[in-house]
Amino acid sequence: MNGLLPSIKHKLHGKVAIVTGGASGFGEVTARHFINHGARAVVIADVQDKKGQNVAASIGPDRCTYIHCDVTDEDQVKSLVETTVSLYGQLDIMFSNAGIATPGKQVVIDLDMSAFDKTFAVNVRGMATCVKHAARAMKEGGVKGSIICTASVMASRANPSGGTDYIMSKHAVLGLMRAASLQLAGYGIRVNSVSPGMVATPMMCEHFGTEKEVAMKMMEKFSRLEGVTTEKHVADAVSFLASDESEFVTGHDLAVDGAFVWPQ
Ligand SMILES: NC(=O)c1ccc[n+]([C@@H]2O[C@H](COP(=O)([O-])OP(=O)(O)OC[C@H]3O[C@@H](n4cnc5c(N)ncnc54)[C@H](O)[C@@H]3O)[C@@H](O)[C@H]2O)c1
Repeated sequence: MNGLLPSIKHKLHGKVAIVTGGASGFGEVTARHFINHGARAVVIADVQDKKGQNVAASIGPDRCTYIHCDVTDEDQVKSLVETTVSLYGQLDIMFSNAGIATPGKQVVIDLDMSAFDKTFAVNVRGMATCVKHAARAMKEGGVKGSIICTASVMASRANPSGGTDYIMSKHAVLGLMRAASLQLAGYGIRVNSVSPGMVATPMMCEHFGTEKEVAMKMMEKFSRLEGVTTEKHVADAVSFLASDESEFVTGHDLAVDGAFVWPQ
């Protein structure tokens, strides 16, 4: 039993990863997780420069770099991937995670279409752009890499109270993941997604206008398992999908939600 521990701890040994949205929430915790699992380098890509630089500095400049990248701009995504490959020699893991929540209720009869476009620009177009350029780099480098997209519990259900564009955008992430997994399998590139339940990240605290502890208490009602989904639960699932432990898993959406339930 003990003989298994070193390989579990270093399941990402030598790998080079990009984490989009890595300045905060799931991205930040997963970037640290990747390093703890032995990754050689993690590139944090985000639009929150100060936060991203602080995360990179706290991980250490020898193993972590921050690059400003707005995923809605294809040139910036292309440059992010090219810079990663030129700095570290290859790209093994793309955690395409950057996303936004739409402000307001966004019920269908009152849809704010400019907010809708913004949500789709980040959550759908940005996600596809990151998958595209990561896959190109992996194919060109002959790397049998792993791409993981952040979907959501809302990728396979809806909310009677609204969130229409966010729900649509996360359904699209599953479509992207499934299409890409089939198209890239021939190169040995795997594509999967994680679908977190409600987690008290900065995004959700801002959405609910509340502190983390209060938000966590609210979120206890959203899972059948006792407790709450945390960033670490998500980072564990992403690390599994990034590692060779999942070497024959592709086209899969991994729910990390403690069995999601709408509160009664
Ligand atoms: N928190 C939840 O309950 C929850 C549940 C399911 C899915 N998600 C998804 O998880 C992902 C991460 O969200 P989080 O909860 O950690 O929120 P977060 O706000 O803490 O982190 C998201 C990060 O993405 C970055 N980002 C936003 N727009 C960007 C852009 N155009 N280019 C680059 N970076 C950008 C933000 O600056 C931020 O650092 C999102 O895709 C979100 O939709 C969150």
